[in-house]
Amino acid sequence: MDATRQRFLMCRPTYFAVDYAINPWMDPTAPVDVDLAIRQWERLRQVYLDLGHTVEEIAPVPGLPDMVFAANGGTVIDGRAMAVQFRDPQRADEAPAYRAWFEAAGFEMYDPKHVNEGEGDVLLAGDHLLAGTGFRTAHASHAQLQEVFGYPVITMQLVDPRFYHLDTALTVLDERTVAYLPEAFSPGSQAVLRRLFPDAVHATMADAEVLGLNAVSDGRHVVLPEQATGLAAKLRDRGYETIGVDLSELRRAGGGPKCCTLRLRQGKANR
Ligand code: ARG
Repeated sequence: MDATRQRFLMCRPTYFAVDYAINPWMDPTAPVDVDLAIRQWERLRQVYLDLGHTVEEIAPVPGLPDMVFAANGGTVIDGRAMAVQFRDPQRADEAPAYRAWFEAAGFEMYDPKHVNEGEGDVLLAGDHLLAGTGFRTAHASHAQLQEVFGYPVITMQLVDPRFYHLDTALTVLDERTVAYLPEAFSPGSQAVLRRLFPDAVHATMADAEVLGLNAVSDGRHVVLPEQATGLAAKLRDRGYETIGVDLSELRRAGGGPKCCTLRLRQGKANR
């Protein structure tokens, strides 16, 4: 299996907190250890560097505790960046911060016409764009994604509020393979997934409940929460190398490694 070098965007959790609840993982009455969150995040960043990937950083903004979840900052494919529009007002100000970063980095910009939470809900799998809806990203935005990027968009209906973003329920392993939690999807979406990915890895609820599907693959190495031991074993059986990371403190906000990581896909040569 070949690993492809990746370029990632990350945001240090300097101002991380859980002081509102916009998903079932968040409990604003429970204390959060920001220093621990930062150490766990730094370890994730180091894992990427050790794998030979490039990590760019966007400056964190005070008062935006969820900005660490860079996957929600945009969708970046073939040198084009589509900015985001959050469902919840608490995260609204992250959108212009990420947009400005993409613009300064030279990406061709597109603005969202509907609620769209970026690569939290949009996953490029081979030549299809899988787009989640049901909790955050609006179904209407799927048509715009198809127009902007020119990949066929497949709508994925999410049904379990704990798996509110597509990247909490499904992970892309390589051009042909995904892993997912079937019961996080509507019956119709499960049928579509079976049709598109007959060889997919099926995760268990135990793996999904530790955000095991919030994983980052370069086609060979899969970085995933270390608590997802069952999923890691299945992936190793398939020939992937798994690297466990502990992001327990960020999980209090409902995020894992993939949420902290936005893939910047430059152009055709470096998809
Ligand atoms: N607290 C954040 C929210 O609810 C977590 C975002 C996680 N990001 C992701 N790509 N799944 O919006």
